[in-house]
Amino acid sequence: MNTVGYLEGESFELPMPDDFHVHFRQGGAMASYVQRHAASFGRAMAMPNTLPPLIDGPSIESYRSEILAALPRGSGFQALMTFKILPGMDKKAVQACAAAGVVAGKYYPSGATTHAGDGPRSFRQVEEVLEAMEALDLVLSIHGEAPQASTFDREKAFLPSLESLILRHPRLRIVLEHLSSAEAVSFVAGGPETLGATITAHHLLFTLDDMMGGNLDPHLFCKPVIKTEKDRRALLDVVFSGSRKFFFGSDSAPHERAVKEKAKAPGGVYSAPTALPALVSLFEKEGRLDVLPGFLSAFGADFYRLPRTSGRLRLVKKAWEVPQEMDGVVPMCANTRILWSLEPQ
Ligand code: DOR
Ligand code: ZN
Repeated sequence: MNTVGYLEGESFELPMPDDFHVHFRQGGAMASYVQRHAASFGRAMAMPNTLPPLIDGPSIESYRSEILAALPRGSGFQALMTFKILPGMDKKAVQACAAAGVVAGKYYPSGATTHAGDGPRSFRQVEEVLEAMEALDLVLSIHGEAPQASTFDREKAFLPSLESLILRHPRLRIVLEHLSSAEAVSFVAGGPETLGATITAHHLLFTLDDMMGGNLDPHLFCKPVIKTEKDRRALLDVVFSGSRKFFFGSDSAPHERAVKEKAKAPGGVYSAPTALPALVSLFEKEGRLDVLPGFLSAFGADFYRLPRTSGRLRLVKKAWEVPQEMDGVVPMCANTRILWSLEPQ
């Protein structure tokens, strides 16, 4: 059966994983980020916080073509497209994005993260967009942080506005992205079927102590910020529960090494090269490899009402040292030994 991953001797095979949240960026480095992604995933949802942002048919179509042009010949990798929700957008603009084949519109509260200064100040400000998305059955993908709250409370502080949004738009399918707190986990778990969430590898693997308990590690700094062991446990436990509302979105967000290693470092963890081997190692250690195929390869596709991916991916139990730098970026787990490797395709 296509949903079951299995451990066979020293290898673990699962249906080709999906990534429902990635930043491919633009320009010279983009091709290597895309190629790195295609080695681990069958499909990935590209975030629209580019410069300029993805907001209409031509920008979405040309970005998709750039992604596909970066792929090796014969690659079956698929790019799922999104548009950025901006104040002033109307129903026609949403219809044009839908015609360009987007699966979701992304809501970044103004100032919440990288290239989000132009975002809406409230859901009310983009009511026409939300109505159009509900009518067209497009998924609303949300960066769920209230920028005016204190860093560690931003996700929790966002939840009341989400609650009233759900009441106003009962048919709108909503994904709360990159969950980081126990409060958000409970909120999504207790929410309606129309509400799902993505979880990253770095929020499952690390806590604040890893980022700043010793010397500061800017490569683990991201938005929303990685939190406490209690939060990490809540995230792991909900994945272990097998709930179909929670699925993988890497939020792999490369920033060049030099930019991350100077003052005012931007948020973002480059997890594309290491997310799957690190997750298999973690879930093996926790004795819960059984839940990985649903989390990585099924629940997201089902929520988005997309066909499941075809093909399979195999990881082998072969330790490797993660380099200090990959694609000009310091990857997640740099300079550490990971017990599992991707089997070259
Ligand atoms: O850490 C992050 N980096 N969080 C985001 O929401 C955006 C991303 C980026 O684009 O760098
Ligand atoms: Zn992101």
